[in-house]
Amino acid sequence: MDEALTGKVIAVNGPIVKAVGLTGIKMFDIAEVGADRLIGEVIRLAGEITIIQVYEDNTGLKPGDEVISYGRPLSVLLGPGLIANIYDGIQRPLVGISEVCGSYIKKGIKLSPLDVNKKWDFQPLVKAGDEIREGTIIGEIQESPLVIHRVLVPLGISGRLVNIVNAGAYTIEENIFAIDTTAGLYNGKLATYWPVRKPRPNKNRKKPFVPLITGQRIIDTFFPIARGGTAAIPGGFGTGKTMTQHALAKWCNADIIVYIGCGERGNEMTDVLTDFPKLIDERNGRPLIERTVMIANTSNMPVPAREVSIYTGVTIAEYYRDMGYSVAVMADSTSRWAEALRELSSRLGDMPAEEGFPPYLGTRLAEFYERAGLVETLSGRDGDITIIGAVSPPGGDFSEPVTQHTSRFVRCFWALDKILADARHYPSISWIDSYTEYLTDIEDWWKNLDDKWLITRNDVMNILLEDHRLEQVVKLVGSDALPPSEQYILFCAEIIKNAFLQQNSFDPQDKFCAPEKQLKLLNSLLTLYKKGLELVHNGVSVKNIATQDVVSEIVRLKSEVPNKELTEIDAYMKRLEQTLATLKTSL
Ligand SMILES: Nc1ncnc2c1ncn2[C@@H]1O[C@H](COP(=O)(O)OP(=O)(O)OP(=O)(O)O)[C@@H](O)[C@H]1O
Ligand SMILES: [Mg+2]
Repeated sequence: MDEALTGKVIAVNGPIVKAVGLTGIKMFDIAEVGADRLIGEVIRLAGEITIIQVYEDNTGLKPGDEVISYGRPLSVLLGPGLIANIYDGIQRPLVGISEVCGSYIKKGIKLSPLDVNKKWDFQPLVKAGDEIREGTIIGEIQESPLVIHRVLVPLGISGRLVNIVNAGAYTIEENIFAIDTTAGLYNGKLATYWPVRKPRPNKNRKKPFVPLITGQRIIDTFFPIARGGTAAIPGGFGTGKTMTQHALAKWCNADIIVYIGCGERGNEMTDVLTDFPKLIDERNGRPLIERTVMIANTSNMPVPAREVSIYTGVTIAEYYRDMGYSVAVMADSTSRWAEALRELSSRLGDMPAEEGFPPYLGTRLAEFYERAGLVETLSGRDGDITIIGAVSPPGGDFSEPVTQHTSRFVRCFWALDKILADARHYPSISWIDSYTEYLTDIEDWWKNLDDKWLITRNDVMNILLEDHRLEQVVKLVGSDALPPSEQYILFCAEIIKNAFLQQNSFDPQDKFCAPEKQLKLLNSLLTLYKKGLELVHNGVSVKNIATQDVVSEIVRLKSEVPNKELTEIDAYMKRLEQTLATLKTSL
């Protein structure tokens, strides 16, 4: 629709603006407000009155100012050049903006989210005359050294390809192909728009079955997530949410990372903006930014931009999913997003529910996490989105509304524990409060490495659970009162915590632990437990086992054995078994 609707502002309450006169305007349409043409979005319709949230600083806006709408929904521009870019919540390029106006974002500034002058080397993959359907990949572009951008036919466009350019360099504004559709000739370019609040369609949803390998032992072995799954990282102040997200971004085997930063403090986001681009993709030594799109919100940006940023991020993720990629979305932290929602809803005069959050907090969180999943794309490939959201409950109290609602919609919960963090046990993911519902979904993948993976994992998990139970007893009666077999369980659990659960992100060998290495370490630990327990039952003292050199050596394997030299763990296992056998014969 090109005919503009015009109206007038009648009230301004922070970023929320009421206007009249915009007859025919729809929910989620963009409205440009005031003389500076500030970008806003229709978030409520109440009879004659249109309620708009404004995404830019609107100080000075007053009743009587003009509002214009072209009847288009708030959308993101999808095309080559997204990768390595850093956007605000409404996809304004932050680097471009800072070049134009320094650190202060000028009101009403309009910059294309994608470079319109850059020429991209395009390789067509189809030819004139072909029957083309929506979502078909018609060509490729090397978007960054790590990402091949697959150019898709926009959704809703199908028909015979009349024309496509030869291989060559083109901008996103040039016509690249033409399709004869039932609605007439469609001229396609390298970039298209998509409304942020509308999930992009797919052929069908599938059950996730491949784990997102993160190289973090407590995650991959104990609380794994599938590619296409959802996880929350709840944790109090300073417990390691951001470090965990960064470790996952650096190491996980997703093709694309979408990092949505909702910082509390202005300088926290500045850290992310300066630090993140310096991170190295540890799998290939290239800058991580070459497979990353960043959405950054700082506390000095208007609140609505933070509210919409998670939709902007997940829409970009869906676009790469539709190319057949595996995408990981990191949102840090969703609590800051929920606070934006709370502030906006209170300005709207909504009846507050728990702790002032609006009654629709749960629905909105669900809408976000539901956009994760493994799908068959319209072009018939598999593509997936994994969503990992950090949650920062005030005072680390997990019973607050954002953590509670989030836990209803995610299938994996990595609870950060303040006691572990204070004890510098990193990652401080609790093995007692965390859970995952993906174990059986991904079991077959691990079975390719070891038939007994899940049994071994559960056996070791049970040692930790038993240790937790016994610790309560020890608190009351002291460990000396326990029978030797139970003392041995406490000893083994301590070894498991040191040798397996603790992982140092700064140690060159330990920062990434390959699945094969995780398995071998796990088997060594289980051997120590099972064979040792047998000895204890036969009268060998816990101390005798604990003081064997080979036993204390197990803690060093994680940092001494490289991922590629795992026969060293096999050799270790032999020595361990031999030593334990000697103790047996000396009985
Ligand atoms: N895996 C880890 N390895 C080593 N150190 C870690 C690890 N995780 C966290 N830390 C330490 O804990 C500190 C705080 O971590 P981080 O900034 O990730 O916490 P946060 O939960 O994001 O905090 P905030 O609540 O301020 O957002 C880090 O600066 C680092 O020193
Ligand atoms: Mg943080």
